[in-house]
Amino acid sequence: KKGDFDHFMKKEIHEQPDSLTTSMRGRLKDGVVGLGGLKDHMRTIRRSRRIIFIGCGTSYHAALAARPIMEELTDIPVTMEIASDMLDRKALIFKEDTAVFVSQSGETADTLLALEYALQHGALCVGVTNTVGSTLARKTHCGVHINAGCEIGVASTKAYTCQIVVMVMMALAIGSDKMSTLAQREAIIAGLTKLPEKVHDVLKLDGEMKALAQSLIEEQSLLMFGRGNNYATALEGALKVKEVALMHSEGMLAGEMKHGPLALVDEYLPIIVIATHDDSFSKQQSVIQQLHARKGRLIVMCSEGDASLVCPDGRSRVIEVPRVVDCLQPIINIIPMQLLAYHLTVLRGYNVDQPRNLAKSVTTQ
Ligand code: F6R
Repeated sequence: KKGDFDHFMKKEIHEQPDSLTTSMRGRLKDGVVGLGGLKDHMRTIRRSRRIIFIGCGTSYHAALAARPIMEELTDIPVTMEIASDMLDRKALIFKEDTAVFVSQSGETADTLLALEYALQHGALCVGVTNTVGSTLARKTHCGVHINAGCEIGVASTKAYTCQIVVMVMMALAIGSDKMSTLAQREAIIAGLTKLPEKVHDVLKLDGEMKALAQSLIEEQSLLMFGRGNNYATALEGALKVKEVALMHSEGMLAGEMKHGPLALVDEYLPIIVIATHDDSFSKQQSVIQQLHARKGRLIVMCSEGDASLVCPDGRSRVIEVPRVVDCLQPIINIIPMQLLAYHLTVLRGYNVDQPRNLAKSVTTQ
């Protein structure tokens, strides 16, 4: 049921403080992360030579968002595979690998075929899914349910943020034997506890995002630049815009800007730059300067209070979001992008819950 909302997508965006709370429930006790589904395999995971994240679409982006903290807290190299590409390349995978399969539905054909492939090669296979009893949950050796609640809108929203939270909790659990990161882990756990409240705050940008959507309604194209923890935010924000608003949108790694995309910059093409306050901030400030120098039409997402740092001359539009611990910032930052995609779609008159040509669960290759 949609309740007070016009569409499932809007309802599911606004449910995120609750879905995140449910995802974490019972898993953060006395400053320790407990993930029952991984307990028996923790020694094997800690000893693995590599962790491989595998998924498609939004689920792949969620894994990409969690990758930096997984590497930082576990000291295990993390590589990324889009399921179809892994199969196309017959990618190398070994029994010393831990392969983490991320899928909201647990029924995506490409992801399940990649799982068969990894099982045949002897890797430890871990599932991260929202669907209890799904094929993914049954066929992996172990796993974690994200408990986001049923998601009906074809565009994934609350499942995305809950997937990130679950993978951050996995990083905390796998890395919990390291004294060197104790203070960092405590800060993240404190951040997780406050996260639903911060998500509630960022949802107040709904009206502002509707106004932004209004100003972009006639555009042909929209770019999003991110890096570090928020490279995934750029990719996922652009995917939301293209799949529901039917507008061309590309997420780009800001570090790659000079290697081609800069040629596109002019005073017309709207570009969203994600420049929240983390260890990539000064690099993003310089990206903003370079885009300004080419008269780029910028919309800058920054941390509350940073507007004058990202846009000293007041020339660009600024979206200010609450600051949280770095590895959780992608969860906050995607929410204005989800709202933007939603409003753009409704204003452009398209079907927001069932975009053309798409299905909720892609069970064919
Ligand atoms: C986009 C979206 C898709 C899915 C992808 C994988 O909003 O929902 O990109 O993320 O089809 O689906 P799951 O997560 O069910 O494996």
